[in-house]
This record gives sequence, C-alpha cells and structure tokens, in this order.
Amino acid sequence: MAIPFVDLALLHAPIQGEIDRAIAAVLADGQYVLGGALTAFERAFADACGVAHGVGMGCGTDAIALGLQALGIGPGQEVILPANTFVATLIGVVRAGATPILVDCDPETGLMDLDQTAAAMGDRTGAILPVHLYGQMVSPTALLDLVRDRGVILFEDAAQAHLAEREGYRAGSLGDGAAFSFFPSKNLGGFGDGGLFLTRHDSAAATARSLRNYGAPRKYYHADRGTNSRLDSIQAAVLAVKLPHLQHWNQQRNAAAATYDRLLAPLADAGITPLVNRSGGGHVYHLYPIRVRPCDRFDRDRLQSALESQGIATGIHYPIPCHRQPAYEDLGYGAGQFPHSEALAEQLLSLPMYPGITDAALEQVARAIAAVALG
Ligand SMILES: Cc1ncc(COP(=O)(O)O)c(C=O)c1O
Repeated sequence: MAIPFVDLALLHAPIQGEIDRAIAAVLADGQYVLGGALTAFERAFADACGVAHGVGMGCGTDAIALGLQALGIGPGQEVILPANTFVATLIGVVRAGATPILVDCDPETGLMDLDQTAAAMGDRTGAILPVHLYGQMVSPTALLDLVRDRGVILFEDAAQAHLAEREGYRAGSLGDGAAFSFFPSKNLGGFGDGGLFLTRHDSAAATARSLRNYGAPRKYYHADRGTNSRLDSIQAAVLAVKLPHLQHWNQQRNAAAATYDRLLAPLADAGITPLVNRSGGGHVYHLYPIRVRPCDRFDRDRLQSALESQGIATGIHYPIPCHRQPAYEDLGYGAGQFPHSEALAEQLLSLPMYPGITDAALEQVARAIAAVALG
C-alpha cells in the first residue's frame, strides 16, 4: 500500500461536521478579519500553553519577525539561532532588522548547540532564538540558565512544537516570547497559512497587536511602523475546533515514533539511527527523521528513491543549512563552518509521520528500509 508523508484527510474526517459548522458561523457573523473568532482562539491557545497573551499573525514567519520587534529587538542587536532550522527562523531575525549569529547543532538531536550559544553571547546579544525542531524542545533549564541575569531576550521558535514538553516546561512558555506556525501540516494546522506570537509581557502583546495591524493601536493612528498580518477568522475558527484534539494527536505521534524506534533498532549497525529523544513523552514528533550514514551500498538519497519506488513518501528537513543558502551568503559563513548541521543536511531522511498512522504502515516502512540497509 502507498504511504503518504502526512494524511490531513484522515485527521479531519472525524471532526469535519464540527469544522463545517465553525466555518459557517464565521461566514454568518461577517467578521472575517479580526473579531470574536480570533480573540477566542488566541485566548484558548495561550491558555493551553500557559502564557498570558496570544497574538494571531498571518504566518509563523511574521510571528517571529513581529514578535522580536515587539520585544524591542532590532538594528544593532544580535540574535543567536541555529544553522539547522527551516530558513523562516533566519528570515524572522533579518526582517526584525537584527544581526543573525548562527551556531551549529547537537548531532544526536539536531537541536541548537547550547555550548556554542553560550560562547557566542556578548555585549551585542539582544536575544537567543532556540528552535524546538522536529517537535522536541531545546532543554528549558539550560536555556533559562543561559539568559539568567543577562538581560537577554529568550524567544522560542515553536513552529514545530505545539504543546511539546521537557523538564516540566511547555513549549512557548519559557521566556519572553515564542512563535508558532499553523501551516496545514503542522501538529496544529489550519486550512491555509497562519501563525501566533505568545508573550507574558503586556506591553509586547499590545505592540505586536499594533504591528500586525498596520502599526495602528487604534484605527487610522499609526504609532508603529507595522504591516498587515492577521490570522484570519476562518483559520482561527478551524484551529479552535482542532485544539482540543491536539494532545491526543501528539500522543499518537509519540507512540508511532516509539514503534519506529523499536522496529529500526536492529539497523543501527547498518548506519541507520533515529535522532535521539531526550524528552520522552513530551516530544511531539512533528517529524521523524532518521540519520542515514552513507556506505558503499547506499546513502540517504538512494534510500529515499528506493522508498519512493514502493509508494512510501519521505521528506528532507532540511537539505541546505541556513548558512549555505545563497540569499544569506553576505552573512559571511562558509562551507565546513557548522559540520554537524552540514552532515545532517546530507544524511537526514524524514519518514511518514501523522496521527492515525497504522502499525501496518510503520512496519511496511521499516521493512522497506531494512531491505535496503541489510541488502
Ligand atoms: C522551524 C520553523 N520556523 C518557522 C516557520 C515558519 O512558519 P510559516 O510557514 O507559518 O511562516 C516554520 C514553518 O514553516 C518552521 O518549521
């Protein structure tokens, strides 16, 4: 049987009636931009994360850019972020006007290297921007230790980590601000683009609301140089229907990952290893990447083609680390500068992962990988 990379139709089928009614209610209400549906979802999502304020944005990238700006980050300040992330993290920093400082990742988890982060911190550091990549949080206690008494903003990119937990903390609740994406395939996704900025600070929330709305704290009065980036009412209504199911869906992802871990364990000697889970049940597995060490019989790309020929869809997250992207050459980083990020870009392969994926599908994927790895 063909196995998709994600299966949104399967996810939505049991709640389709509820979603249809929520959309119909917005259509009847007529407030398509800003209004009750958005406010209600912002409250519900902020409460779920245990944070005072949620500000819905047009996408996660804007939630990073405008969120950083709302926290006072801008020109003249440095923001430290990992090279191993989706490029949107970097875009957010650049759009805020700050100077991005990249660091390598831990090769076992793919997450930001905190020793390098500590070493990169200096007088110009305005913020550190850990990315809870693949659904796993960067260690909260270590992050809080890094910023304690330093006057440095802690901003989480939680675009892949809705309701993830580690060391008793929930993603988005650690520091000064956090950004989430509601791109359709995210753990909590809408029917189009969407994002949200979370913050504990009243003033940053008010500024973010202004920035997303042309910089106007009240109509036609532009106190800030803002833009237009609101989470649509229809998206907010759909997300509000899906939010109560999120924890269960995340548990299903975590259980599927445990099954993959067990099925793939015999392939470790053949060079196939999952990324390491250091947060147990708190890892929400937005993605399930395996590391494929190349040998004379196969490498990541050959394994991907073999799976594709059997109808098994996979992904690569991400094929080019941020510091090697042509648009950001002027940052001055070179090949070989972040060896772990570069190795993972060549070796990671993300396997099918979605709530409701069956054991039969997981077994089929593992068998197909074993056939290549064991020859
Ligand atoms: C780690 C990370 N950061 C930021 C984003 C940006 O979110 P969006 O696509 O909603 O702009 C994404 C998702 O695309 C992401 O995966």
